[in-house]
Amino acid sequence: MITKREIEGLFGAQLAKIRDGGLREGVVRVWVEGCRKGGWNEIAQLQAMPFTLLTPARGVSFIEHTIAVTEGALALAEAQRAAYRALPYAIDTDRLVAGGLLHDVGKLVEIEPDGAGGFRKSRSGKCARHPISGAILVGAAGLPDEVVNMVACHAKEGEGRPQVIETVFVHQADFATFDPLVMLEKGTLIQ
Ligand SMILES: [Fe+2]
Repeated sequence: MITKREIEGLFGAQLAKIRDGGLREGVVRVWVEGCRKGGWNEIAQLQAMPFTLLTPARGVSFIEHTIAVTEGALALAEAQRAAYRALPYAIDTDRLVAGGLLHDVGKLVEIEPDGAGGFRKSRSGKCARHPISGAILVGAAGLPDEVVNMVACHAKEGEGRPQVIETVFVHQADFATFDPLVMLEKGTLIQ
């Protein structure tokens, strides 16, 4: 079983940026429950998981992706705070970090080891993509609806749907990590 302490070890720097202790605990609780539900028992196995099966991940792990998206979303918020004389909307940093860390948590039940050293889509993943399974995990843990919005609407499921500003930032940071890999594969990333 992957423990609370192990999850805190993976995301310590980001978790420290969540001031609300209850929300911070909730994020860790959802990760522990996602690992349990998805059958991830060893931290090394979790760290080996690629962040996507949709395009070659080229060594970028699920954990690295989660950190990059969370920090990227935070940087977008900081850039606007620094550059705008008046922010047109309020940005909630606690929510931004919590939703960043949880945006792909549904992948813990969407992806599974294939038994031959690789990874594949699970039966659960065929039934519901990770924004849906993640939103279920987050809602069941009693986290705020706004964090549910960030998980449920961070990908194509959220297109054209009402979103909190933190969902917008996580979406943009997420696709800034995903699109270049797709472009590499298609040969459209100029290097
Ligand atoms: Fe993602």
